[in-house]
Amino acid sequence: MSQRKLNIGLSLGADICWPICYETLLKDLNLNIKLGGETLSFESERITIEPFNLQQPVRYDMVIDRLTHWYSTSREWIKKGILLDDLYVYNNPWSLQSNEKHTSYAAMLRLGLPVPETWMMPPKAYEESEDLQATLRQYARMFSMEDIGNDLGYPFFMKPYHGGGWKGVSKIDNLQEFQEAYDNSGKEVMNLQSAVLPHDWFVRCVGLGPQMRKVNYDPSAPLHDRYTTDIDFLSKEDGSILEDMTATINSFFGWDFNSCEALRRGGIWHPIDFANACPDSQVTSLHYHFPWLIKANLRWSIFCAATGRKMHRTLDWDAFFAIADTDISPREKLSQYAAIAHERFQTEQFREFCQTHLSHLDEVAYDFFASDTMRDAVHQKVVALFPEHEVEDFTELFWSRIQSWRDTEGAAGDAGGF
Ligand SMILES: Nc1ncnc2c1ncn2[C@@H]1O[C@H](COP(=O)(O)OP(=O)(O)O)[C@@H](O)[C@H]1O
Ligand SMILES: [Mg+2]
Repeated sequence: MSQRKLNIGLSLGADICWPICYETLLKDLNLNIKLGGETLSFESERITIEPFNLQQPVRYDMVIDRLTHWYSTSREWIKKGILLDDLYVYNNPWSLQSNEKHTSYAAMLRLGLPVPETWMMPPKAYEESEDLQATLRQYARMFSMEDIGNDLGYPFFMKPYHGGGWKGVSKIDNLQEFQEAYDNSGKEVMNLQSAVLPHDWFVRCVGLGPQMRKVNYDPSAPLHDRYTTDIDFLSKEDGSILEDMTATINSFFGWDFNSCEALRRGGIWHPIDFANACPDSQVTSLHYHFPWLIKANLRWSIFCAATGRKMHRTLDWDAFFAIADTDISPREKLSQYAAIAHERFQTEQFREFCQTHLSHLDEVAYDFFASDTMRDAVHQKVVALFPEHEVEDFTELFWSRIQSWRDTEGAAGDAGGF
């Protein structure tokens, strides 16, 4: 049986805590996976940013990427890797680049998901260019904000069409606030979206490949408390709707790692923010849920590298649209979209792979999350984010939440499942 070492590339930004955990656990797992007549071992390497020849081969078997959205050199390196070297990378970079939040609303409306009524506004101000005045003079139509506000109904949310990090988001209760917010929006192109208020649940469902974690999210809490530590807080059917929605969205857009925010009102889950590829992965936000993320990340990346999973280079939406155009109920449609998603995510094959080759992950992770390396990773992240006088208290807080995960989920394990 031949030996092969697989190299997982980590394309990182300011990340501190999760790569330390990922790298240490990958070593601790000491994998020797027997697959297809080979014995596969694994290493990971942090990818550097430097000039590259387009024909210089990529030396990674897959890449976990967190930079694509923000750094064009990394994004273009990844795109050339997919085109020239058959590289597999988390989150299709073309899709990430082109499918903004607004597009995600349009696409999920097309699939019949209950996205709240959404409008797009032309920007209040423009970058001057040679053709600008001629274009606006001819084609920019005057509009009545009063009519739009009445049509959509108050309250609604105004937010940048590309989204991200709560920047430039405002809740609008009346025409005066609408006018003020629009005047202040400058060159940003804005969406207006009917408010799902009041709602009884706000859930952020994180998807990593076919693995899902539903978090009861409290947007009014300070950053370190927004991911509440509740588990099993939803009925089976509510949980299943959210998982099906997230799987649908992620496979539709070719996103391996994304989160979907949905609000429930009157028994209906309204997705409101689901173009969040590479969502927050820091222990200082996820704390109790952090070990889940690290384990899910290891499972999916090891599976992709070991099986040589092929990138879906084109998005192939017709199968979803064919279901959207049938007469079946919205819930049935969602189940059928999710079935396509699970086929594309190779869910069954992945489950079997985890059971056969990664069943010791539970035990190794259980030990690791109590180790000095883990505690130091928490400490390093806290030092980077918090003022000096808060470092000790917050290190202790996040550490204790991870220990509480160990005492419950960690001790129970998931027997190589997910
Ligand atoms: N349609 C909506 N109904 C109710 N609350 C909303 C709606 N849209 C946004 N919000 C609130 O505003 C916050 C930020 O908006 P969101 O679309 O999530 O943008 P971001 O991409 O910045 O996270 C949400 O977490 C939620 O609290
Ligand atoms: Mg959001």
